[in-house]
Amino acid sequence: PRKINLAVIAGDGIGPEVIAEALKVLHAAVPADTTIDVTHYPFGAGHYIATGEILTAGGLEALAQHDAILLGAVGGDPRDPRLAGGIIERGLLLGLRFAFDHYVNLRPTTLFPGVASPLAKPGKVDFVVVREGTEGPYVGNGGGIRVGSPNEVANEVSVNTAFGVERLVRFAFRTAQARHGRLTLVHKTNVLVHAGGLWQRTVDAVATEYPDVTVDYLHVDAATIFLVTNPARFDTIVTDNLFGDILTDLAGAISGGIGLAASGNINPDGAFPSMFEPVHGSAPDIAGRGIADPTAAILSVAMLLSHLGFTDEAARIGTAVTNDLAGRGTAGRSTTEVGDAIAHSLRAAVSTTH
Ligand code: NAD
Ligand code: IPM
Ligand code: MN
Repeated sequence: PRKINLAVIAGDGIGPEVIAEALKVLHAAVPADTTIDVTHYPFGAGHYIATGEILTAGGLEALAQHDAILLGAVGGDPRDPRLAGGIIERGLLLGLRFAFDHYVNLRPTTLFPGVASPLAKPGKVDFVVVREGTEGPYVGNGGGIRVGSPNEVANEVSVNTAFGVERLVRFAFRTAQARHGRLTLVHKTNVLVHAGGLWQRTVDAVATEYPDVTVDYLHVDAATIFLVTNPARFDTIVTDNLFGDILTDLAGAISGGIGLAASGNINPDGAFPSMFEPVHGSAPDIAGRGIADPTAAILSVAMLLSHLGFTDEAARIGTAVTNDLAGRGTAGRSTTEVGDAIAHSLRAAVSTTH
């Protein structure tokens, strides 16, 4: 008998809607002798507005005790003055990524059979973005001078450490080696010369240890061209925190929609729980209507299971999602219809194998 001690932060907007389906699928995917203990944490924009609490020290300590964290989405209406300045995104989401040293933000992209891409000729779309998760312009190293005046100066400093870049780059080489052996560094070395230089030198140095991995480089602007015109050229992309954020929304769009894009915030050392979440946000424009696609959250559960060593269960979810997508067509289905269908096919699969 095995056990998973899971923390869930359903969050805001469509977060709770997609998480309900993801948990349904999680329970359906594991055999009867596996216990899943789920603890819900209320954090998010709604909780902050109600209580003034973002991420408490006690909450962080409690979350640290879990095997993994499943997160829906956090954040509210960007025009809500009470949430100005990304107070939830930075305080909660980045707070967790930094506190739990989620230095690998792993974002796979696959165009599943039967799924329509907005690209006329997508070709083979099957790559993973290894996005840095704890550095870059995300660290809050900025400031303003003469704020609000015509002479205002606003700085947002991108922090890149040799330690931080090297550990991420090493993870990316291992990832590429386990895939098709092709690694693309994406940066902007023609302008951001200090950070870009460190990334390029680090990749060049680690590359000598991986003769079986071919390495190439693209400036981030050109990378957006090839993601649209020839996504098949990508296997593993390694890039900084902000470029990775932008490229993975684009990657979601070309592979059938952001509602299918899963991610893992990984602490490879295992010192802290890793956190799995859809790439998308709380989608205030469709929240409450029951139409959000829960597939990204469901695939995030598969990544979570795989990370915890439940590889059969993860693969089973992958198959169930693949089959569901293949038969989905263009008919719009509700959030619960998708979750129910995938959970149903899993229960059938689990009962025949156990
Ligand atoms: P978003 O990803 O929430 O929405 C972008 C577009 O994609 C919207 O049109 C939305 O309806 C659509 N979409 C998103 N998920 C979908 C799904 N599962 N099915 C169908 N359509 C879907 O991005 P945004 O509008 O920029 O951000 C909204 C809020 O979410 C903001 O507060 C933002 O800061 C926050 N956010 C949170 C996370 C997170 O918690 N990990 C990630 C991104 C954005
Ligand atoms: C994501 C989100 C976050 C990011 C925001 C909400 C801080 O866009 O997970 O992609 O930029 O990392
Ligand atoms: Mn994003």
